Amino acid sequence: MATFSSVPDLFAHAEPSRVKLGHGAVLLRGFARDKAEQLLEAIENAIAVAPFRNFVTPGGHTMSVAMSNCGSAGWVADRRGYRYDPLDPSTQMPWPAMPDVFTDVARRAAAEAGFDGFAPDACLINRYDPGARLTLHQDRNERNFGAPIVSVSLGLPAKFLFGGLTRTDKVLRLVLEHGDVVAWGGPSRLAFHGVDVLKDGVHPATGRCRINLTFREAL
Ligand code: SIN
Ligand code: FE2
Repeated sequence: MATFSSVPDLFAHAEPSRVKLGHGAVLLRGFARDKAEQLLEAIENAIAVAPFRNFVTPGGHTMSVAMSNCGSAGWVADRRGYRYDPLDPSTQMPWPAMPDVFTDVARRAAAEAGFDGFAPDACLINRYDPGARLTLHQDRNERNFGAPIVSVSLGLPAKFLFGGLTRTDKVLRLVLEHGDVVAWGGPSRLAFHGVDVLKDGVHPATGRCRINLTFREAL
């Protein structure tokens, strides 16, 4: 993967702001923008140890999103199912430790969204190349549904889909940009969500991809 560059964020425009998406669900626009460079540096270090890979789902489908993890456990998929695993199946080594800047951004964003005391032990690192997408799903492999999911977007913009508690509920479509954070918990914890096919482009901070971090209390 191309090395992330440290040129200023030419895409930055609006001041940080918050948008309510539902009960317990909030978009914090620009919340992580001032930490983006540090986050990307930490991501590079993590993926040097646990490289991005495309999991194969139990149904035999190779996911278009490339994934890695850091923290005490990582989200993995294989022919047997979906789970959190303390070891990276590619290397049989523990996942890289959660970088302090990850924990700091995730905790502060959760608090800003109304979830005090968030203590993520797992971070899924997603890389979307042009054409990649994530179909509507719920995050339900975590042990503690009392804690929110906190999602940080970096690089190319993507259309995020945020629905309700059933697959057929109406879906909000929001463009997430570099530095945006979405948190969903409480009554929205099991909301269906996904990401539309990533449009091609080049972002000054990441190049030709979008990176997303999702923080969870998994264990
Ligand atoms: C996810 O649902 O794991 C990722 C969401 C995103 O990429 O915005
Ligand atoms: Fe998810």
